[in-house]
Amino acid sequence: MTGLQGIKACVFDAYGTLFDINAPVAGFRDEIGDKADRLTEIWRAKQLSYSWLRSLMRDYADFWAITGDALDFAMRRLEMDDPGLRERLMASYKTLDAYPEALDVLTALKQRGLATAILSNGSPNMLTPAVEHAGLAQVLDSVISVDRLRLFKPDPRVYRLAVDELGVGPEEICFLSANAWDVAGAAVFGLDVVWINRFRQPREGLPGEPAAEITSLDELPPLLD
Ligand code: LAC
Repeated sequence: MTGLQGIKACVFDAYGTLFDINAPVAGFRDEIGDKADRLTEIWRAKQLSYSWLRSLMRDYADFWAITGDALDFAMRRLEMDDPGLRERLMASYKTLDAYPEALDVLTALKQRGLATAILSNGSPNMLTPAVEHAGLAQVLDSVISVDRLRLFKPDPRVYRLAVDELGVGPEEICFLSANAWDVAGAAVFGLDVVWINRFRQPREGLPGEPAAEITSLDELPPLLD
């Protein structure tokens, strides 16, 4: 495998990569009924596009606010008027489950002497409780939020945050994301990227090639041998 030699740090996207973002709506599936899948899809799509649009407009709101705005849109679109459900869905975002293999893989990476970090569009007030809830705090050296820059991935300045925070070169960072647009952004910036293609998506028509493509985090440690 080329491109993954000399790695000193593994940096992870949060949502969809370490944390299962389908779980909140799934937990209320009985209550939501046949709109559940569309709600998940519209909520996530709007959450991402609002973050990019606000970066372009230079009108920052943190990812927690954007996540709420996106949920409000999704509920309007699906004609779901239920403030109580809205509050419960938002609260569940702070107690997301990690994917089952995440803890073991992060532990294995730390045992090998690699630095580990999250680099996320999420704001600290949502990342901190999620990391705690999922029991990942002791296997992460840093949780880096875009909030201090007030702009979002895939702006290259965000990927530079990881380089600056961890004190290693871009080519010494293996960045992992399940989000193809994030894979593209990190690779264009110059990180070595592994795409966790959990959702078996086709390649995007964007620049920036991943060094490897896997379907579960379990497949990561052997790639770094
Ligand atoms: C993250 C989201 C957007 O940055 O997946 O964690």
